[in-house]
Amino acid sequence: MAPPDSTIRSRTYATLQYSDDDPKARPWRNGRLLVLGTGLLAVALSSIDDLAAHHEPALTAIIAIVALLFLVEYGVRLWTAPEMIQFRDLTPSVARLRWAASLQGVIGLLAVLPVVAIAAGVDNDSDASSAFCIAWVLKLILYAPAMGTLTRVIVNERATLASVLVIFLIVLISAATTTYILERPRQPEVFTSIPASLWWAVVTLTTTGYGDVVPLTTGGKMVGSVVMVSGILVLALMTGILATGFAEEEKRREYLQVWDQVAKVPIFTALGTVTMSEIVGKLRVRLYPPRMRVVRQGEAGDSMFFISEGEVEVRVPHGSVKLGPGAFFGEMALLDRRPRSATVVTTQPTALLVLYASDFYRVASHIPSLVEAVEAEAQRRRTENESRPNRTDST
Ligand code: CMP
Repeated sequence: MAPPDSTIRSRTYATLQYSDDDPKARPWRNGRLLVLGTGLLAVALSSIDDLAAHHEPALTAIIAIVALLFLVEYGVRLWTAPEMIQFRDLTPSVARLRWAASLQGVIGLLAVLPVVAIAAGVDNDSDASSAFCIAWVLKLILYAPAMGTLTRVIVNERATLASVLVIFLIVLISAATTTYILERPRQPEVFTSIPASLWWAVVTLTTTGYGDVVPLTTGGKMVGSVVMVSGILVLALMTGILATGFAEEEKRREYLQVWDQVAKVPIFTALGTVTMSEIVGKLRVRLYPPRMRVVRQGEAGDSMFFISEGEVEVRVPHGSVKLGPGAFFGEMALLDRRPRSATVVTTQPTALLVLYASDFYRVASHIPSLVEAVEAEAQRRRTENESRPNRTDST
């Protein structure tokens, strides 16, 4: 049996994991965001002299409480680090060190600095303690769900991004040097050195244009024009690279998500892995809450649906039929090219795989066995609907 101390630790770790990852722990995560927001607001308000003068004790108390909560969180996460799957083979102290050096550990430590600063006697409303508190805002990195995607996109596109950065640097340094040579005789007090004219080059290349330093010679203005246009091109290139990277990453993520759901539908798994991977690219996952109408009787049908999780109720004119995981609906409108024959409503949270009409007809020519199975079930339903008027059924 595990020692009691380790049991408490593993339970605490499981609770932390739950609060970090589980969709049901959203209120807990929102609570943490609220604490962070309150702390940041208190820091911002304490920098307004009038407010600070009247509410200093309250603001100080809020900042201290938020800082203490972060200190406790840091301590607990550090203590439970040996329970993390990636650190399981390490000794507790090495696991804790490794966690402390991770992004989460470093950000956690920065968020704790205000407590250390206050404890060390730094005046709470001084600029130094405010600056420490700004470290809290870094915690948002840990709460942003798309941060992992952004990191993956940057890593995947690092070679292309590096090339654009090199172009950026070439334009920046050559523009700063040329302008320094051209402008120095006319404005020796402004373009005092190459680093000083680098400031002008950065402001111009990023199309910010503060206007504090401007070229006055014709040559300088010409260089300035080239730099401004290059700035727009470089930014457009960066945007394009990141946007394409995001789209590809999203496609990969969606492929995996669809694959997970497709694997729960026997009609697809029976096709074998190769054919299944072909159809995965044509399906989209849609998540529906309970009591949501998916199709309405009489409307035009442009897609059919496979249920991977949950349940729907088909309201045929003469009663209702329940369909669960593995079943499909919406095929009749595509096969018969007629309006929907029934209304379909979810009865529980439901995950559906959508196959649009254009892809359905393409699949029909590639995977005839799938469409034959769908056609056979549609025929059974047609017969059932015609032969069982005014009946409430459940399958
Ligand atoms: P469609 O007509 O496109 O839209 C409504 C869907 O309800 C229909 O396709 C079938 O998929 C489904 N449906 C109709 N009748 C039955 C039935 N008797 N049993 C199960 N599903 C049905």
